Amino acid sequence: MKKIVIFASGSGSNAEKIMQYFEGHPTSAVAAVLSNKSSAGVLAIAQQFQIPTLVFSREDLNNDTVLNFLQTNKPDLIVLAGFLWMFPKSIINEFPGKIVNIHPALLPAYGGKGMYGLNVHRAVVADGAKQTGITIHYVDEHYDEGATIFQDAITLLGDETPEEVAAKVLKLEHAHFARVIDEILNN
Ligand code: GAR
Repeated sequence: MKKIVIFASGSGSNAEKIMQYFEGHPTSAVAAVLSNKSSAGVLAIAQQFQIPTLVFSREDLNNDTVLNFLQTNKPDLIVLAGFLWMFPKSIINEFPGKIVNIHPALLPAYGGKGMYGLNVHRAVVADGAKQTGITIHYVDEHYDEGATIFQDAITLLGDETPEEVAAKVLKLEHAHFARVIDEILNN
């Protein structure tokens, strides 16, 4: 079985879709869910799926604790699903081409430091952007700059609130992320 390790900081709705998609999958499985927040909703969801979890601190991420966990578990793909900390170079170098992130905008637009969650959608609305969307991309040492794997766009009417844009974009993420992960692993 190919192993997916998910990192998530938040409610974990994307992570949940991925766990659902790969439950009973013939060739790939979610092997672990890691979070920097002990209260993250994603941990309870992982437990429902009987997937092992690990909570780690910023120190664990930047010393070798998380790296050692990954070296022991040997994931075929590391998936950042709403993970909001910078990923350390030591892990990026150890798993070249094996880390993917989802970003709630059409990169390179609305990417970079501070651009996460609702901040992204506030900027989109403030600009009166005509469209927005999602980007699934490889993670390299530069924030939000790794090669794009998949994008999909939605048209904005111009009267949406940032929260309404967020809801539309999240729906798009749920529709595509797990399938794209499957294609990366199995094509
Ligand atoms: C998602 O919209 C994801 O694109 C975004 O966080 C949200 C997590 O939602 N990630 C970023 O902004 C990364 N820069 P979820 O916890 O419900 O999956």
